[in-house]
Amino acid sequence: MVMIRSSRPLLLLIALVVGLTSSATATNVTYDGRAIIINGERRLLFGGSIHYPRSTADMWPGLIQKAKEGGLDAIDTYIFWNAHEPRKGEYNFAGNLDFIKFIKIVKEAGLYVVLRIGPYVCAEWNYGGFPVWLHQILGIELRTDNEIFKAEMQNFTTLIVDMVKKENLLASQGGPIILTQIENEYGNFIEKYGAAGKQYMQWCADMAESLDVGVPWIMCQEPDAPAPMINTCNGFYCHKFKPNRPDSPKMWTENWTGWFQAWGEGQPYRPVEDLAYAVAYFFESGGSFQNYYMYHGGTNFGRTSGGPYLMTSYDYDAPLDEYGTSFITYS
Ligand SMILES: *[C@@H]1O[C@H](CO)[C@@H](O)[C@H](O)[C@H]1NC(C)=O
Ligand SMILES: *[C@@H]1O[C@H](CO)[C@@H](O)[C@H](O)[C@H]1NC(C)=O
Ligand SMILES: *[C@@H]1O[C@H](CO)[C@@H](O)[C@H](O)[C@H]1NC(C)=O
Repeated sequence: MVMIRSSRPLLLLIALVVGLTSSATATNVTYDGRAIIINGERRLLFGGSIHYPRSTADMWPGLIQKAKEGGLDAIDTYIFWNAHEPRKGEYNFAGNLDFIKFIKIVKEAGLYVVLRIGPYVCAEWNYGGFPVWLHQILGIELRTDNEIFKAEMQNFTTLIVDMVKKENLLASQGGPIILTQIENEYGNFIEKYGAAGKQYMQWCADMAESLDVGVPWIMCQEPDAPAPMINTCNGFYCHKFKPNRPDSPKMWTENWTGWFQAWGEGQPYRPVEDLAYAVAYFFESGGSFQNYYMYHGGTNFGRTSGGPYLMTSYDYDAPLDEYGTSFITYS
């Protein structure tokens, strides 16, 4: 009794100090050749993609909760430049474009966020997320070592990073964002751009680093990703994938749960046996992060659907269907 009594003020003091500092406590995210390391612990991480503009804001809490019940650690989303800046200098972050609110809901659910800024994102989204006004600037060449383009890309990327920093949403600030992505699947096209493509990749890495986010940057499907960018795999199978540096973990950013649907084509479907095979093989071969693309596909509202001839639905045969319904029952 006496002992307990006398230690009370100390306990109270500890509680106070913890209470005062915990809200600002940074989450330390690093990596080695084996895994993403969070606060000193190597982690096996499961993510799932949910793109905020492909559902309505009032659907977000339910979708995120179901993703959590499905066993995910992280929600992955792209940022959609042409939705946010339809005309140069005119921004829209309202309604289902309020990505800050989306990230905060993920945080409240206790999950991490993988923020894939791009800002070229492809994503079966109109013009891969690039605004049409960008295309119309005289002398611009997109996604290469072009000064006009790079200035625009840097401006928008900086704007997004500043927005999340202002709300303390980076893990380095105590927030949920553990990984950030620059560019997207550039490796599919780098050959076409020649030496300028390589210079552009280096510029992307340097520019991203200069934004000082305090969490690792990834580049998906980009075998030439310059250090310290982690190159990651997208595909139906990634067991054969090897990152381009021994100190990068083996990560699968897009585990395609199904496929997007084009007009006049059959409904995409991926057999469960095949998925089971893919999962066993990926982890057996040293994988430590995988992300379901998509976990909830949703809807391409308005004229946001990309080509060629993709449908309004972005259901993707994902675990949560277009309307957010899951047919899995949890016991
Ligand atoms: C963050 O984690 C890494 C790897 O575990 C460690 O080397 C580093 O010292 C940590 N940094 C801080 C600020 O705790
Ligand atoms: C970038 O943003 C700055 C400040 O907002 C602005 O002055 C500049 O013109 C912008 N540059 C481009 C290329 O849009
Ligand atoms: C890929 O996603 C499917 C479900 O869509 C899942 O069954 C499979 O385990 C996942 N693969 C990995 C490596 O996690």
